[in-house]
Amino acid sequence: MRSVLVTGGAGYIGSHTCLEMARSGIDVVVVDNLCNSRMEAVRRVEGISGKGITFYRADICDEAAMERIFERHEFSSVVHFAGLKAVGESVAKPLEYFHNNITGTVVLLRAMLRHEVRNMVFSSSATVYGDPQTVPVREDFPLSVVNPYGRTKLVIEDMMRDLHRSDDRWNIMLLRYFNPVGAHESGQIGEDPEGVPCNLMPYITKVALGSLPELKIFGGDYPTRDGTGVRDYIHVVDLAVGHLAALRKLEENPGCVAYNLGTGRGCSVLEMVNAMSRACGRAIPYSIVDRRPGDAAEVWCDPSRAMMDLGWKAERDLDAMCADAWRWQQKNPDGYPKD
Ligand code: NAD
Ligand code: WQD
Repeated sequence: MRSVLVTGGAGYIGSHTCLEMARSGIDVVVVDNLCNSRMEAVRRVEGISGKGITFYRADICDEAAMERIFERHEFSSVVHFAGLKAVGESVAKPLEYFHNNITGTVVLLRAMLRHEVRNMVFSSSATVYGDPQTVPVREDFPLSVVNPYGRTKLVIEDMMRDLHRSDDRWNIMLLRYFNPVGAHESGQIGEDPEGVPCNLMPYITKVALGSLPELKIFGGDYPTRDGTGVRDYIHVVDLAVGHLAALRKLEENPGCVAYNLGTGRGCSVLEMVNAMSRACGRAIPYSIVDRRPGDAAEVWCDPSRAMMDLGWKAERDLDAMCADAWRWQQKNPDGYPKD
């Protein structure tokens, strides 16, 4: 059986992807330092899939620990989620982000090189497009940086492109996620942010639950259909399935290629509020406040390259995203049990 190393596999997107991988018969090995996640997520993935997952609690920046992991397994590929992802925190602590995300990736790539593992799926982000001039966003649009978090993604993408130029035996899928939301339909795994959420969907579900009083909508005067910001929300299970498609693609020696993973549809903040009200059967109180600095008016993608090359497209609609996020939140009002 193929073994695949998943860095950050205890996290939100990683846990959903490990589940799809395990269910498709891949031998999953996770390395995670649990700096933003819980071991319980991995246990639950084992429970839902009925498959065992090998877990190492280690930091990807720790060269000796990474070496030990690579010595013990023969990996066909690596799926690389591990990283810090909070935009605001990255502005306050840029060096932490550069070290964790960039140095961590260099350490990982060096271990892969030593062990001749040259297949990688990398979690990039729509943030590499900066504030796009037009929508829908295509992969050949200009790339730019708007914050230190985004810089780490762009630097890593550039490193990957250089690596492939240095040796074309490297195959790297740069998956640019748009706005991942929702949870597995079992309601057993989902997004579990520490403290008050920064992102829209986990904030709304906390308001729906009554643990936060109201949603603050950042800006009602954008040049969009209802004045609120528009994004391309994608169900996390669709995203997870996209990783399986990318892993299959690696077998064709595709080189280093970037793919947008989104639905190709924009949704405004107010539309999301209404969809969540339908899902949970209650009104979501909100007020409109000033714009959040750095936010673009409208970001949604053209996902047709992923459809053409990977045979993948997002299947789940906004109602499924909200129903599944709500199920997870109701079943786990305080997230995973704290161990
Ligand atoms: P997450 O925080 O839930 O998962 C990241 C995981 O990596 C966590 O389990 C964390 O403990 C682990 N980790 C972090 N640094 C580590 C290190 N040095 N060594 C070992 N483990 C480490 O985040 P997520 O939402 O699942 O995101 C996964 C990836 O996708 C990240 O790289 C993120 O930047 C990227 N991404 C996320 C979004 C989003 O909105 N969630 C959008 C685009 C891209
Ligand atoms: C969505 C919309 C807000 C919260 C971020 C990162 C991006 C990527 C995904 C990792 C916007 C509005 C939000 C709130 C609101 N992450 N909003 N009230 O900003 O599109 O993307 O996460 O790669 O890099 O920047 O996502 O969920 O924060 O915001 O009105 O309390 O909701 O203004 O229009 P964003 P988000």
